[in-house]
Amino acid sequence: MLTTFVLLVVVLVTARNLLLREVDTRANADIAQEAAEFRTFAAEGVDPTTTQPFTSVERLLETYLLRQSPSDGEVMAGIVDGRQLGGVRGNPPPAVLGGPDLFTATTTAAKTSGVLTSPAGEMRWGRVDVDSGTGRGSFVVAAFTEVGRASVDRTMRTIAAVSLAGLVLSTGVAYLVAGRILLPVRTVRAVAAEIGETDLTARVPVEGRDDIAALAQTFNEMLDRLEHAYTTQRQFVDDAGHELRTPITVVRGHLELLPEDPEERRRTLALVDSELTRMGRLVSDLLMLAKAERPDFVVPRPVDVAQTMLDIESKVQPLGDRRWHLMEVAEGTAWIDAQRVTQAMLQLAANAVAHTADHTTVQLGSRFGGDDSARTLSLWISDQGPGVQPQDAPVIFDRFRRGRSPEPAADRRAGAGLGLAIVRAIADAHHGSAWVRSVPGDGATFGLDLPADPVAQGGREAADPNEHKG
Ligand SMILES: Nc1ncnc2c1ncn2[C@@H]1O[C@H](COP(=O)(O)OP(=O)(O)OP(=O)(O)O)[C@@H](O)[C@H]1O
Ligand SMILES: [Mg+2]
Repeated sequence: MLTTFVLLVVVLVTARNLLLREVDTRANADIAQEAAEFRTFAAEGVDPTTTQPFTSVERLLETYLLRQSPSDGEVMAGIVDGRQLGGVRGNPPPAVLGGPDLFTATTTAAKTSGVLTSPAGEMRWGRVDVDSGTGRGSFVVAAFTEVGRASVDRTMRTIAAVSLAGLVLSTGVAYLVAGRILLPVRTVRAVAAEIGETDLTARVPVEGRDDIAALAQTFNEMLDRLEHAYTTQRQFVDDAGHELRTPITVVRGHLELLPEDPEERRRTLALVDSELTRMGRLVSDLLMLAKAERPDFVVPRPVDVAQTMLDIESKVQPLGDRRWHLMEVAEGTAWIDAQRVTQAMLQLAANAVAHTADHTTVQLGSRFGGDDSARTLSLWISDQGPGVQPQDAPVIFDRFRRGRSPEPAADRRAGAGLGLAIVRAIADAHHGSAWVRSVPGDGATFGLDLPADPVAQGGREAADPNEHKG
């Protein structure tokens, strides 16, 4: 509105200046035309009574003046020998009449045209001198521009009043429209304000298909994600608390009833120790998952894949009495975090051991896939255990989720269900994926697909390689 106002003022001022200049130009043109007409008459005109050329200047001027009908603000006069003839022709502004004799004043000037300041404002004038031999005289035509100027000002006042009314009207309309447009925004704000720390269920009503509706939609989607993240987080804390409570209860129970007999005491303490070990492992798994949220969780660098694979092979040996077969070894360099990848493969190997009987074969390998522009490195472990039920496959990578497949090593306590979550976190941090392929009853193959070349993402390669130690 302010811009419009300023613009209007500029337009009005400019228009006024142009119109005023137009008034001056028109006055000059009128004067020039009248002077030209008089000159023609003086040269060619004849006295109507004698039908002969004029013999006296006075007669010439009088005859000519009688025939004129000056327009508004235009005045003509005849001056002979410094004396004004009769009255003036035209409509001089009242202030001029009775004032100093302006018209005789024009005859004293050397120039034949000019501008005078009269009691009625600016007067533009032109003069034509005639000399008939018997006498000298002048024809004076003057224009009072004040009349034109006043009319310009009247017009400008009308335009200004109309513009102002329009401005007020459009301000009102703009206010109403802006209010309507901003109403949904206020709703979004109100909903945002309503959302407490614990209640993320509120949603903004989405109406229409305009930008505001899109904003509400985006806002709701953000809330969905927040709610999901929040629920997952709470679920995670609940599960972690629950998982930790069990070993604590077991340990406390054992310690409260600590037997006197040294042999029994030793056995109880061994039990307590194994329970505490399990708890320790759980806590470090939880810490690992928490750390997986940090950007420096994996630090990829060029790694000799074959060497890494041999390392993995030697590290899986102590996990269980299995026939570990290295089936294929990818040759070349890949941008991965060898330490984390080894950790993931050990988790998969531990699972394979947990789900298979002694002396069975567990195969593992690595291979490059994809094309030259997007090479992928796949690492896999395949066992001959019971496999994964199809309905379990999508969920076992979630935290604290265990499958329903029977575990042959019945004496072993079931895990917490964090192993595959860690594997997936490591794959995700590499911008890759973790997968399982299984036919129930006929073994399972778990693996990782990782991009083999640096993933365009600022700063990742630059991270301090020492940061993720431990
Ligand atoms: N090699 C496998 N064969 C069959 N089922 C498997 C295999 N590996 C994992 N699973 C299924 O996936 C589930 C989740 O595995 P995950 O490693 O996440 O947890 P866990 O081994 O039970 O516990 P944790 O690893 O935390 O000690 C397991 O409970 C099991 O049902
Ligand atoms: Mg496991």
